[in-house]
Amino acid sequence: MPVLTWSSKTLTAPQPANLLLDSVVYPAGTGYPLSTAQDRLVWGDNLAVLAALQPELDGKIDLIYTDPPFFTNRRFPARIGRGEDSRKPQDWQLAEGYPDAWKDIDAYLDMLYPRLVGMHRLLAPHGVLVLHLDWHANAYARLLLDEIFGTDRFLNEIIWVYHGPSPIRSAFNRKHDTLLVYTRSEQYTFNVDAVRIPYDQKTVDTFASSSKAGFGKQPNLERGKVPEDWWYFPVVARLHNERTGYPTQKPQALLERIVNAFSNPGELVADFFCGSGTTAVAATRLGRHYLCVDSSWRAVHTTRSRLVEIGTTPLALYHASPGAQAEAAAKRVQLSVAALPTCWRFSLSAEDSHHLDYWEIDPHWDGSTFHSAFQVTRHRKQSAVACQVELPRACCGQQVCIRYVEVSGKCGQVVLDIQAVANTA
Ligand SMILES: C[S@@+](CC[C@H](N)C(=O)[O-])C[C@H]1O[C@@H](n2cnc3c(N)ncnc32)[C@H](O)[C@@H]1O
Repeated sequence: MPVLTWSSKTLTAPQPANLLLDSVVYPAGTGYPLSTAQDRLVWGDNLAVLAALQPELDGKIDLIYTDPPFFTNRRFPARIGRGEDSRKPQDWQLAEGYPDAWKDIDAYLDMLYPRLVGMHRLLAPHGVLVLHLDWHANAYARLLLDEIFGTDRFLNEIIWVYHGPSPIRSAFNRKHDTLLVYTRSEQYTFNVDAVRIPYDQKTVDTFASSSKAGFGKQPNLERGKVPEDWWYFPVVARLHNERTGYPTQKPQALLERIVNAFSNPGELVADFFCGSGTTAVAATRLGRHYLCVDSSWRAVHTTRSRLVEIGTTPLALYHASPGAQAEAAAKRVQLSVAALPTCWRFSLSAEDSHHLDYWEIDPHWDGSTFHSAFQVTRHRKQSAVACQVELPRACCGQQVCIRYVEVSGKCGQVVLDIQAVANTA
């Protein structure tokens, strides 16, 4: 069997990260404070995270979809504009999204290879891996996956076709990505009826008009057909409602088809390069659990905001240590608290509401893990976040902690002694 080699190819045991539980987020307070979070979002380098999770999740993940950098040798900025016109890129504010820049293909493969090996280990015996790449590196990845999984574990090469403008004038426009699908064993999940699509009208008309169509074999037109291995979904275009501003975000419909096909409700779906969290959103909408990892703080913040907006069950946010620390906010927010007969009202200044992207409240701050009972997110079309939140007095303890993320991605926290505020009120 041909095997891909390059001069620096090695496999050494990676140093496991220390996973620190930073916060438990109860979207809109659902389940606060007693529900345990079954879904996880981890901020850190996935190699160390994979190693840290191995004792717990060896052979336990039902589906891994993963969409690493493609070896494009570009840096992808994130759009952080606040409600500016989508059609005027010159007005957008940009920030670091993620880099996809490598010294050479060897450096890229040094990154990809041990991570694919780590993911293979965590897959359940019936598990499926979907690796999303494009023409830049998919040929190399296919050989790596053959080596790791075995050539007979290859299931599909799915071509995701899309369209859109392109500056290329010297070749055909490159408008497809490649999804390589491998299974852990011969027995794997494939929910054929969950992914059926309607036959096109021409086929329906042909069978209606002639009994000889299909050489006399009439398909079950009502049940629909199993899609081919090439799929059309529009890219998350500039004006699309799904768009988060995080670069190279994939369409939810694409992820929903993958999750439906290769996993069952209640199972665990993981994405170790999760970006804006499309996999987490698809998994949670379809009743699966998720484990999502990204090394970029903006990716983790974007994923958390998306999950809060759709109102999921509680999720646990971990920081992999040693790792990056979020940059401290440029400015402390001005927060006022008013004691109303049955609740506390927390108000930000109007100026703060314009430079924040997100804020959340732990009404019973214990000084270690943040229990986020209430969150405020800023929709990408809004220029400000809501600046007032009321919480019932009964749910607030001695200390209340407010955390916030600025539009720039920088973070801050304010702790209030609510009883002292009450005494002076
Ligand atoms: C192509 S994007 C994923 C986009 C995602 N599928 C979506 O729909 O938004 C690749 C992601 O991999 C992340 N990444 C790159 N290297 C990583 C690493 N070593 N560990 C964890 N995440 C990494 C980047 O920060 C980036 O968010």
